[in-house]
Amino acid sequence: MVPSILSADFATLADELAVVASAGVKVVHLDVMDGHFVPNITIGPPVVAKLRQHSDLVFDSHLMISEPARYVEAFAKAGVNNITFHIEASDEPEKLVDTIHDLGCTAGITFNPETPVEAIRKVAPLCEMVLVMTVHPGFGGQEFMPEAAAKVVQVREIVGPDIRVEVDGGIDPETTPLVVSYGADTLVAGSAIFGEPDRVAAIEAIRKASK
Ligand code: DX5
Ligand code: ZN
Repeated sequence: MVPSILSADFATLADELAVVASAGVKVVHLDVMDGHFVPNITIGPPVVAKLRQHSDLVFDSHLMISEPARYVEAFAKAGVNNITFHIEASDEPEKLVDTIHDLGCTAGITFNPETPVEAIRKVAPLCEMVLVMTVHPGFGGQEFMPEAAAKVVQVREIVGPDIRVEVDGGIDPETTPLVVSYGADTLVAGSAIFGEPDRVAAIEAIRKASK
């Protein structure tokens, strides 16, 4: 269970992290958007660096940005632990995975719902994680796309059991059983947690649905 802070109260992010940590969460998902690769703008390295001072959680960054190679060092220095980038935004994905590893981070590859799984076949086995987008990247609170979620099965065939397969977008207690049945082991949820007044109960509801 990996909460995405995209739907959290951005004015009280450190407190929001503390609340999810109190529910036993170990990893939090940071959505980075540049207003170019996606039509929305969120947080950059300075915000991440400040959050790092307030939290021991593992930071799983999801770079929805053009030219990710230009920025991975800044995010690593800001204190993220995992860097996931989009295959659509990278000309040399294998090289970028090496760079991310050299920076001391784990690497993830992701792809948009309209991109075929084939696009990540070569780079996926080099990564620690593959992120299957189950909405179009850019905004929280969108409707879950079941046809995109079905790609988890193909991804699992490519990477085997040892690489994490994460799903992101529209994950809630209703959609969780389907993605788990497809083989996803890492569930990102934004609005289903931070859109609820009781974050801890919302996390528990998704955990229960995943069993
Ligand atoms: C969407 C982001 C997601 C987002 C998910 O572009 O990558 O991480 O926060 O939000 P929900 O869970 O509300 O669909
Ligand atoms: Zn995300």
